[in-house]
Amino acid sequence: MEQKEGTRVNRRLLIGLIVSLLLLAAAGVAGGVAFSGVLWYQEQMDGLTESNRQTVEELQKRLEELQKRLEETEAQLAQAREKQAAAEEKAAEIDGLQRQIDSLTAQLEEARKGLAAAGVKAAFPKDAKLVALTFDDGPGKTTTPRLLDELKRRGVRATFFVLGVNAARYPDLLKRMDAEGHAIASHSWSHKNLTTLSDDALQQELDRCAGAVRQAVGYAPSLLRPPGGNFDARVLAAVKAKGLSVVNWSVDTKDWKSREKTAVVEAAFQKGMYGVQNGSIVLMHDVYDSTVEAAVEIVDRLLSDQYILVTVPELLQARAGGAVPGRVYYSSSRFKDAV
Ligand code: NI
Repeated sequence: MEQKEGTRVNRRLLIGLIVSLLLLAAAGVAGGVAFSGVLWYQEQMDGLTESNRQTVEELQKRLEELQKRLEETEAQLAQAREKQAAAEEKAAEIDGLQRQIDSLTAQLEEARKGLAAAGVKAAFPKDAKLVALTFDDGPGKTTTPRLLDELKRRGVRATFFVLGVNAARYPDLLKRMDAEGHAIASHSWSHKNLTTLSDDALQQELDRCAGAVRQAVGYAPSLLRPPGGNFDARVLAAVKAKGLSVVNWSVDTKDWKSREKTAVVEAAFQKGMYGVQNGSIVLMHDVYDSTVEAAVEIVDRLLSDQYILVTVPELLQARAGGAVPGRVYYSSSRFKDAV
């Protein structure tokens, strides 16, 4: 019995001991787990802090860069503004100069018109060599503006015998001719041989061209060059009835035939009565590139030969007492009346 009692006590002790040991082990395990959890958390937090720090640094760097770029851009803007202001100043200056040029050009035109009204006779010395360059069949879309540029550059004026169809197509070119002091004359409406037309058709050829010129510049021409230079008594009677004079030529450059500058220039300056001389009326056509080139050379040569280049009305006014209606002129000194 006592033995049993002792054994029971020992067993209880043993069980208690085992339980205690188990509890201790469990507590140890729990503690370890808890501790390692704390370590893991700490590690995560450290990692987060590190990545945050990096992000902040990157953002600061980026901000600095942007700040720098903003400053640079502002500096560029300031420079651009300065340039713009300078350009605006220059543009204003150019506008001012352009206005001055326009005003002077207008004054020059007025003076020219005044001179013409006062009688050009007084404008040219008696012994001055005068020559009138004339251009038929235009205006040509590209050739005539180029010719006008060259004449303007040299301060030279000419006479344009325009076709009505072209005058109606390019009224601005007629306006320019008028503004730059050239004479505008008729070459009929559509370049038909006037001697072959019925009376009505003949009237129409003259009237329609006059209408197109009037539409463009406000006045009708007073000179006519019949197509091909062809006329007869009937044509002259019709022309005279309209107050027109016929103007043919004394120098034929044959520029319609030879499209070669040199040949045209040589034809103009050929020796004898068919070459240029004082009082000549020179025939050309402002519808060919080669004619524009030749005209430039002819003008330069005439100027260096001391010729004064005038319009046909000026030439006839100065040397023939003015154009007489129905009369046919070949030069300032050669003309004939209706036959
Ligand atoms: Ni012609």
